[in-house]
Amino acid sequence: MASIGQIIFGSMIVLIFLMSGLIILLLAIAFGAGGQGFLRTTTRSPVGNLGQDVVLDCSFSPKQNSKGDVSVTWEKVGITGVVYRYQNQAPDLVDQNAEFKGRTQLFRNVVASGNASLLLQRVREQDQGMYQCSVSAPSGRGSINIHLWVAAFSAPEFKRTGSSLTAEAQRWFPKPNVAWEDHAGHALNGSTKFFNNSAGIFRVESNLLEPANRDDTYTLVISNPLIRTVSMATLTGESGVSVKTDFTFNTASPRLLSLSLVPALLSLCLLLP
Ligand SMILES: *[C@@H]1O[C@H](CO)[C@@H](O)[C@H](O)[C@H]1NC(C)=O
Ligand SMILES: *[C@@H]1O[C@H](CO)[C@@H](O)[C@H](O)[C@H]1NC(C)=O
Ligand SMILES: *[C@@H]1O[C@H](CO)[C@@H](O)[C@H](O)[C@H]1NC(C)=O
Repeated sequence: MASIGQIIFGSMIVLIFLMSGLIILLLAIAFGAGGQGFLRTTTRSPVGNLGQDVVLDCSFSPKQNSKGDVSVTWEKVGITGVVYRYQNQAPDLVDQNAEFKGRTQLFRNVVASGNASLLLQRVREQDQGMYQCSVSAPSGRGSINIHLWVAAFSAPEFKRTGSSLTAEAQRWFPKPNVAWEDHAGHALNGSTKFFNNSAGIFRVESNLLEPANRDDTYTLVISNPLIRTVSMATLTGESGVSVKTDFTFNTASPRLLSLSLVPALLSLCLLLP
């Protein structure tokens, strides 16, 4: 018969093993396993706009004047088959996953010069996830992970009627927050309605609840966890509005989140025994 002490000791060991496994997994996710420097990307976490095309960027240094063959394979974590494969100077789509049929391409005329980027067309919600670009070339081989996020976003359009100002943005997903500010960054009251279309994408309609003055600038911020748009609308003349919209993608935070989880779990482990 095992004593209570032995059982507790045994469970602690198991727990520590589980925790260590989890930490290693998190570290692997946080630092992107396998980017050995041969492959590069300008965007590790691109955001695809639902229904539109997105490029997953992946590039390598080719060998000068090399006639050797380049093979490029794009895979997605959690699905069978490939997203796209290119070898012997031609697409090889025998084991392409059906989800990606007819929606993926490489930029074939620039593959030999080091561009292995994937063009993914008509982005769908289920395309979100971790992709792996693997290249084997005379100059080296390697793979790199790229996380695609999927959202919907569009710049708002403004309408001015007398002293009332309204804004309308056609496509947002996930559902955004909407806020108005004056030129000094002070919050202004607004009223916002969301219309959810059949695809689950929101149309946003927002009214500024205070009189809008000629020559003043009003700021409308539409944001969800992935995207933030800041639109500055300046009322010009009797009825004009001139607008400038900036988009910011906020995809660094999910990675930071997993990084900050690591110390939290580590300290939990240290506290347990
Ligand atoms: C690869 O080529 C495509 C198409 O010309 C381009 O959009 C993309 O920016 C290129 N990527 C790099 C890293 O040059
Ligand atoms: C917004 O509206 C509320 C209620 O109508 C009012 O109490 C508040 O002062 C308003 N805020 C601003 C910044 O005008
Ligand atoms: C939006 O509409 C879709 C499909 O009509 C529905 O599945 C979804 O639950 C709706 N979402 C919200 C937040 O109302």
